[in-house]
Amino acid sequence: MFDRFKRISEPAIVRLKMLVFVLALLPLAKLMVNGLMEHLGANPIERILRRTGFWTLTMLTLTMAVTPLRQLTGRVWIGRFRRMLGLFAFFYGCLHFATYLVLDQFFDWPGILKDITKRPYITVGFSAFVLMMPLAITSTDAMLRRLGGKRWRALHRLVYLITAAGVVHFWWLVKKDISEPLIFAALLALSLTVRAYYARQNRVNSAA
Ligand code: HEM
Repeated sequence: MFDRFKRISEPAIVRLKMLVFVLALLPLAKLMVNGLMEHLGANPIERILRRTGFWTLTMLTLTMAVTPLRQLTGRVWIGRFRRMLGLFAFFYGCLHFATYLVLDQFFDWPGILKDITKRPYITVGFSAFVLMMPLAITSTDAMLRRLGGKRWRALHRLVYLITAAGVVHFWWLVKKDISEPLIFAALLALSLTVRAYYARQNRVNSAA
């Protein structure tokens, strides 16, 4: 019973990937439909900014959960979804930044520079976005081979720092209700704890 789905076939992985792909596009589809139907409320730009920001952080949290979930369940195939989720995080991050750049700031470069340097939550959000770039660029198999597994894995551990920066960015911008950033912070702490536990187990096992 517990061994069910321990291994799944290649066609099943492909079908699951297609499902994840469609599901990951649903928030964007919903935003577009609401936009076309003028259902984005009194401040549509703020709504788009907030939804794309929320989904960037959600996708980052899911990406970060892949390895701990794989370790906890022993289902190696779960790792096959990491790249897609990470690229969706970057995709929503680009939409979020583009919304800020084009719709919110209307390419007001001096204003943007002032925001990035003077408003701490923007500084942190912007740093997280910049850090996502090397991960997106090196997400291919060719780049993995070029960098070598060890260096590639070390670089991609940045996802934890990026997610932490995303949580801080969210925490600093909410005015009263911190429940949502708190949930993201708890999920980050949980993922890190599971990872640390397995890293320790591996050290103990290899020393024995
Ligand atoms: C990894 C990168 C980033 C993540 C994870 C992220 C995440 C978020 C989240 C979760 C929200 C709030 C969503 C909600 O209220 O439900 C948000 C809002 C916002 N973000 Fe980001 N963000 C990132 C990068 C950036 C960047 C690069 C900028 C601009 C340079 C930016 C500017 C903003 C602004 C202006 C808001 C709305 C603030 C408000 O309505 O008061 N973010 N972001």
